[in-house]
Amino acid sequence: MIIRRPTDIRSSEITEEALYRDRRRFLTASGAIIGAAWSGISLAAPVPTTFPNLRKSPLSATEKVNSWQDATTYNNYYEFGTGKADPAHSAHTLVTTPWSIQVDGEVKRPRTVDVDTLMRWSAPEERIYRLRCVEAWSMVIPWVGLPLAPILKRLEPNSRAKYVEFTTLNDPKQMPGVRYPVLDWPYVEGLRMDEAMHPLTILAVGLYGKALPNQNGAPLRLIVPWKYGFKSIKSIVRIRFTEQAPATSWNKAAPNEYGFFANVNPAVDHPRWSQAKERRLGEFLKRETLPFNGYADQVAQLYRGMDLRKLY
Ligand code: MTE
Repeated sequence: MIIRRPTDIRSSEITEEALYRDRRRFLTASGAIIGAAWSGISLAAPVPTTFPNLRKSPLSATEKVNSWQDATTYNNYYEFGTGKADPAHSAHTLVTTPWSIQVDGEVKRPRTVDVDTLMRWSAPEERIYRLRCVEAWSMVIPWVGLPLAPILKRLEPNSRAKYVEFTTLNDPKQMPGVRYPVLDWPYVEGLRMDEAMHPLTILAVGLYGKALPNQNGAPLRLIVPWKYGFKSIKSIVRIRFTEQAPATSWNKAAPNEYGFFANVNPAVDHPRWSQAKERRLGEFLKRETLPFNGYADQVAQLYRGMDLRKLY
């Protein structure tokens, strides 16, 4: 038998691998559906593996996108380990179909919704966005995203709802990382209602026109392009509307390093490093980091009158 080194494997074969995973996900899903039909239980439909006639959003960035390889092998998903390569190796244990999201807190009617329903309420669009991580690296990714605003409206928050809290699955059987107290699990993030309702905010269900790989937060993750990447919570199982600002995971872990707002701000250093520059994955020279990650024209007015040095 010939054992090939990774450098011998052509990139076209790597794409094949991605397709294979998608096909496997489809087969698992169709098996689940047949099983459900047989047992008479209704199961949530899976996220499609591809998105035909995907509408390209005018809200996209116009930069060169990173490769599929960059986006799917260099990840932060601590539930699958703290190394950048860990999620791509370990996240195959995450079962993403069926998947439902619990909706509660300050709503007219607490309920459970599935991803398919969310896709009917808000059509998937391709949105090319920069992801700027607080660790000072960045990527440009073509997400397949559902605008969040129409979804939140359909969930009918009441007049007390001022914030939205998002929670990731917390299952030690599927997620080896949650057996260690790296963070106070489950991973929780939150937005103020006006941030959540902003047209740039999306729930991503895919990237590069295909369903999200597990390491990127399948089947559903948040993207808020003017905020540091840690706000982009993955594999969401709960959406809760609240009157008070939710206690978020990184803010609880290190309040002097990670604020609730987490707006990309080159003028405010992280206590251990500068945020003035960033390294785009695949590039050698660093580039200047832009205020609000380049989305200042669209979002700066949300923070008018706030001291963004204190509210970082
Ligand atoms: N969501 C969960 N549940 N767990 C995590 O560890 N990491 C965050 C965010 N969402 C994280 C998470 C951080 S720090 C970043 S930079 C982005 O996911 C990375 O997203 P990507 O792996 O798709 O690039």
